[in-house]
Amino acid sequence: MPKHIFVLTGAGVSAESGLGTFRDKHGEGIWARFDPMKLATPEAFARDPQTVLAFYDARRRNLVNAKPNAAHFALARLERALAARGGGLTLVTQNIDDLHERAGSKEVIHMHGELFKARCLECGSVRPWFDDLEPSHACPDCGSPGSLRPHVVWFGEMPLRMDDIEDALRRADLFVAIGTSGAVYPAAAFVAEARAYGVPTCEINLEAAENAYCFDEARYGSASETVPAWVEELVEG
Ligand code: APR
Repeated sequence: MPKHIFVLTGAGVSAESGLGTFRDKHGEGIWARFDPMKLATPEAFARDPQTVLAFYDARRRNLVNAKPNAAHFALARLERALAARGGGLTLVTQNIDDLHERAGSKEVIHMHGELFKARCLECGSVRPWFDDLEPSHACPDCGSPGSLRPHVVWFGEMPLRMDDIEDALRRADLFVAIGTSGAVYPAAAFVAEARAYGVPTCEINLEAAENAYCFDEARYGSASETVPAWVEELVEG
């Protein structure tokens, strides 16, 4: 079993937990139904905070009722197995849900932020936030009214923890992307970086991603089936 594994997950890993994906070949993804430029940019938030906050409120309420699936539990198992063998799993997710943590994963890098957190535009503080977020809400830390936004990374903004991600890519023995369409950068470029470091790469997905040609190996099928089977092979192999 490789000692240091880098796993990148996307919306597909949470699809079977009832959380919608953003893009699919049938035009039913979130961004086929909602305009991301009106809901997921800092400009949209400045223009119309009520609408942007309502969009994330609905997703937050949906997440409260969601449960991790077999793919999330399998990755938590992989984390434990690698640690027990003196290795490590770097689990980087583009997802803003907390299903990896709810399945038992201890170390999760949320490069696009977290839905159950709010950030103050005035003082920069980041706090757990589980209820609806109103434009009238004041920051619990600095008291500024109307300065709270979801702690998520919007289009045109820099992802989080990029230095940690780059370090882990350099140290990896295996790179695996799970349930991501390879449509959004910089995450979609991680596979090419891993290859440049000579790291073997594998795609696990329902169907081929836009950057499928970058992967040495591919396993297609639903995450709740393919991921536990892959982890079983690694751990018991
Ligand atoms: N099992 C495995 N993969 C699945 C499943 C499933 N049950 N259902 C869908 N998929 C795959 C799709 O085939 C697709 O390749 O998951 C991928 C989902 O792609 P996107 O919806 O584009 O999600 P993602 O790649 O995570 O999006 C990246 O874009 O909108 C922004 O910030 C948002 O983090 C997000 C980023």
